[in-house]
Amino acid sequence: MSSSNSETKSAGQIANVMNETRVFPPSGEFSAKAVIGSMQAYQTLYAESIADPVAFWERQAHEHLHWFEPFHTGLEWNEPFAKWFVGGKTNVSYNCLDAHVVAGRGDRVAFHWEGEPGDKRTITYAELLADVSKFASALKKLGIQKGDRVSIYMPMVPELPVAMLACARIGAIHSVIFGGFSAEAIADRNDDAQAKLIITADGGWRRGKVLPLKQTVDEALQKSPSIQHCIVLKRTENDVTMKPGRDLWWHELVADAPTHFPAEPLDSEDSLFILYTSGSTGRPKGIRHTTAGYNLYAKRTFQWVFDYREEDIFWCTADCGWITGHSYIVYGPLAAGATQVLYEGAPNAPAEDRFWDIIERYRVTILYTAPTAIRTFIKWGDHHVEKHDLSSLRLLGSVGEGINPEAWMWYYEKIGGGRCPIVDTWWQTETGGIMMSPLPGAIPCKPGSCTMPMPGIIPRIVHADLSDVGTNEGGMLCIEKPWPGMLRGIWGNDDRYRDGYYGKVPHMYLTGDNARRDEDGYYWIMGRIDDVINVSGHRLSTIEIESALVSHPSVAEAAAVGRPDELKGQGIAVFVTLKNHNPSDNMRDELKKHVRKEIGALAVPDEVRFTTALPKTRSGKIMRRLLRDIAAGKESGQDTSTLEDFSVLARLRSDEES
Ligand code: PRX
Repeated sequence: MSSSNSETKSAGQIANVMNETRVFPPSGEFSAKAVIGSMQAYQTLYAESIADPVAFWERQAHEHLHWFEPFHTGLEWNEPFAKWFVGGKTNVSYNCLDAHVVAGRGDRVAFHWEGEPGDKRTITYAELLADVSKFASALKKLGIQKGDRVSIYMPMVPELPVAMLACARIGAIHSVIFGGFSAEAIADRNDDAQAKLIITADGGWRRGKVLPLKQTVDEALQKSPSIQHCIVLKRTENDVTMKPGRDLWWHELVADAPTHFPAEPLDSEDSLFILYTSGSTGRPKGIRHTTAGYNLYAKRTFQWVFDYREEDIFWCTADCGWITGHSYIVYGPLAAGATQVLYEGAPNAPAEDRFWDIIERYRVTILYTAPTAIRTFIKWGDHHVEKHDLSSLRLLGSVGEGINPEAWMWYYEKIGGGRCPIVDTWWQTETGGIMMSPLPGAIPCKPGSCTMPMPGIIPRIVHADLSDVGTNEGGMLCIEKPWPGMLRGIWGNDDRYRDGYYGKVPHMYLTGDNARRDEDGYYWIMGRIDDVINVSGHRLSTIEIESALVSHPSVAEAAAVGRPDELKGQGIAVFVTLKNHNPSDNMRDELKKHVRKEIGALAVPDEVRFTTALPKTRSGKIMRRLLRDIAAGKESGQDTSTLEDFSVLARLRSDEES
């Protein structure tokens, strides 16, 4: 990163202080083989898609989904409520499974699964279809009907996607709850969705230990009156208590179930799933996605962004409990007939090279992971990577947070060997699929930029007064028109949906993120609107200050937040983890100087705190709102139910700047 300044910005405008100028075009060889192999091809496709988005998506839907009955209307838009492919009947599990088997590709491997202890299974599409059919028929037998809600709280074993697809097959609405959530969080979600059934396992493996999932569910079920049954998969063989009448073993239910159970034709707009995301205040929001539009959007974005080919081995390291796992392990890749690696456990079990070992053994060609993981790998050291042959990789992806340019460079050089494009994919639980990302054969990468919109997606950036921003000016990122993958609402709360996403900026979807667009038309996400730091009337984005800190050779991770300051309005407090955890005497001054050099005087932190860990959500995002309270010396009144490691907060509080 080189320095630029951010003088004389008008009040309310977000200063752009990052000036990243490196550009990495794909190799000629990569582009030659790519589905979309040049900037011109992308621009032609994009222009066609936005000239008439509904007609574009209608064509995509005809071509890429199976229809039991065709739709008669592409889009019914009754702002903010969208209905796509109205009148059509399809089934997501059919599109993901039967379609391939019917086409004679049943022997293709769907999953190479590996458990944390090292146990392995290879599952073909035909086998997956049989497993899903059996479980779907068992659910039906248990009285689960179309529209019923089913909670799923499982480890990353093949039965997790099987359970999701079985719900989809019969029209039950699944709500997957990440296996790290507490009993309280499960009970809240069961209650909000009024779930009838919960599916879990005796346990799951994590860092050599058994996570007692069933025990946690038992606790949750004391406060979940809507739940009638609990299905338990045997995974770890630890002792569990089975409540007669309520609890049932998975293997007993499927023992004599038929291997063929037809997929039910469902309306395009029947709900497929609810997925809870943490709101910054109050109850978690149940984001609702439906059948045809979501499936189409996940499939097509998977094919475009990952440039997916028959011979690829795709590995998305997310858990199925997050939207990334829903869209880019289950519904996108399976609809595209992809072969994937699925891994149950932690990246450091038994050693810190587990990911590289997996890539080498399965000859993974596409790796999709998160910045939090990449920064952790940097901290663990290059020697873990260097032990392994990663030459099978041809494409890398990143999702979940902004990737700091220096972390991008490490990923590019150390993991990708300088030959793999990186798709930095920007999207949200609400958007259903990737909204902006390089198409790797077409769009040159710039470290830290999610580059350009997907076909059919029209981003727009506006100031607080709703006027459009100029080039390189930060503002609120909105999306102009409905798209098939968009959320259809918040479960049971239309008002919260309308107010949160369509209330503030008229006739546009408000993403809640800030962004800028550079002179080449590249988009740069600048963090959440609520996280902006206002120093003497200059609005600074967190990611830019953090990226400056991460570009210092000793820094592993950094989080920047505002804290009250009588003179400046807000001052800047930064929380830093070092690669060796051992700050030298002058490290604070050195980091302040480094930020001054990289960005300028305005962004120099008032306070630098060293910490061994940052508070993160269970999906790995830094929780800046908690850090804001700590920096302000306040006890936090914030919702901490999504925090991964509570001890981090106590350590941060006792770790004042000395
Ligand atoms: O702030 C953006 C950030 O994560 C938010 C969405 O979070 P979630 O719903 O949990 O979905 C995560 C997986 C898609 C966004 O509003 N975010 C996600 N990807 C990126 C990102 N910020 C910058 N760059 C990204 N690539």
